[in-house]
Amino acid sequence: MDRQAVTIAIDGPVAAGKGTLARRLAARYGYAYLDTGSLYRAVGAKVLRQGGDPDDAAVAAGAARSLTDRDLAAPDLRSEAVGLAASKVAAIPEVRAALLDYQRRFAAQPPDGKPGAVLDGRDIGTVVCPAAPVKLFVTASDEIRARRRHRELLDRGENASFEQVLADLRRRDAQDSARNTAPLKPAPDAHLLDTSNLDIEAAVAAAVDIVAATLKP
Ligand code: C5P
Repeated sequence: MDRQAVTIAIDGPVAAGKGTLARRLAARYGYAYLDTGSLYRAVGAKVLRQGGDPDDAAVAAGAARSLTDRDLAAPDLRSEAVGLAASKVAAIPEVRAALLDYQRRFAAQPPDGKPGAVLDGRDIGTVVCPAAPVKLFVTASDEIRARRRHRELLDRGENASFEQVLADLRRRDAQDSARNTAPLKPAPDAHLLDTSNLDIEAAVAAAVDIVAATLKP
């Protein structure tokens, strides 16, 4: 019988450094990586493209059920507007239900026969993979996260003020934490990792220590 794939679940608020950490851990252990936020972003972007309202449950659920590879490769996925739309569609239970199987299958049977998967998002440790042996909840102060996100947007040529980015980030975190279905919160058995005072190398080293201690035979 095949060995069970190992899952590393990484959750946390906007721009806490989850994606970079997840990518680095996946590369280090030879695991597959799934950015689950991109699924919600693709749904939000698709609704906006259709001229629909991201708060409309029927429209958003329809977009989630008909998601294609092309939607997942949309060029505007990382924009602020799409991030806010993603947070709205993500509060709709039918949207979350439509995306759940894909995420669980990715974790259970990682592509290319890889022995494990790293998934990052908001509800990986609590809902998508509650039995994951390694769970990290990554945080950083609002200002530091907004500074990182602002730099990322400027690098990409988006025009945004720091104040606007900070306000958007707080709004999105508030929406994500307050929703009834799969709210943003650490799983009871998650390891908390505050990256406020860590550069990327230090954050990766801290995460590797946690993974090593948790997966120790
Ligand atoms: O991680 P990212 O910022 O790209 O996610 C965009 C939005 O998708 C989040 O603000 C959140 O509302 C939603 N999301 C979610 N559950 C996940 C991943 C993302 O609700 N597992």
